[in-house]
Amino acid sequence: MYSDFVYGLVRDSGVSPTATKKELTPCPLGVLVMKSSLNNEEVFMAMTDFHDNFLFLLRWIHIMAGITWIGHLYFFNFVNVPFQGVLAKEIKPQVNPILLSRALWWFRWGAMITFLAGWLLLLVKYGHGDWALMFDPTDGKMTHRAMWILFGGTLGTIMWFNVWFIIWPIQKQLLTWMKAGTTPPEAAGMAKKALLASRTNTFLSGPMLFGMIAPNNYPSINGVTLIAVVVVAEVIIWGLIKMSAKAGAEL
Ligand code: HEM
Repeated sequence: MYSDFVYGLVRDSGVSPTATKKELTPCPLGVLVMKSSLNNEEVFMAMTDFHDNFLFLLRWIHIMAGITWIGHLYFFNFVNVPFQGVLAKEIKPQVNPILLSRALWWFRWGAMITFLAGWLLLLVKYGHGDWALMFDPTDGKMTHRAMWILFGGTLGTIMWFNVWFIIWPIQKQLLTWMKAGTTPPEAAGMAKKALLASRTNTFLSGPMLFGMIAPNNYPSINGVTLIAVVVVAEVIIWGLIKMSAKAGAEL
């Protein structure tokens, strides 16, 4: 059972104002202090609230996997592309299959977990309470936070598709050929297609991430904001790609 102190925190927080001490399930961690996802006020979240705790865990898994995925995407685009440009041709078969097959594993499974946890998060969070977070109960219109997350989620889903159905199948084939020491004529065209999909994902990642963090931090959406977000993100990402040709090349 909770100590009197913890019980007082839970009761006074307003999360479980009427719960008696006996009704609170014992938990080694007691309570978490966090921001309410609905109104951004600081509340004490009881570890007994399954819905909120499940959402919190799901969000954590989603973000961990998202970092793993996008981190590798940036490694490929900002480090590996310029690196391949200066790596001697005869060394590539010794380095690339070993290094890139590992990196591609974290990349594609990071994408898969992010994608699955993301849509589950949307279903559990927005579906809770009769979809009131998705559609305003007073006028039935889609809420701004839902528009943001659908914007980000759609871009993320296009990126996931590119990873699993374009980049990975092509890279798998190219690395297999490289390992076997053969270079069929179609290899160059396939490498170009994979690079295009990878660059597209890098450009999509900026606005996508804005769509992810906006529901809880940027409450309104309109055409001008969307255009501004896309333009600013694309200019920055374009600059990073340009920079990557030389950044860190010398110690
Ligand atoms: C693949 C499709 C994706 C879907 C369907 C999706 C879905 C979601 C949903 C439903 C939320 C909760 C939003 C809310 O609290 O209202 C969320 C939050 C978040 N997502 Fe995604 N997501 C996707 C991809 C990604 C990727 C690739 C990243 C990259 C790191 C990412 C990073 C985040 C972050 C940081 C949050 C937390 C925002 C906050 O708490 O303020 N998501 N996502």
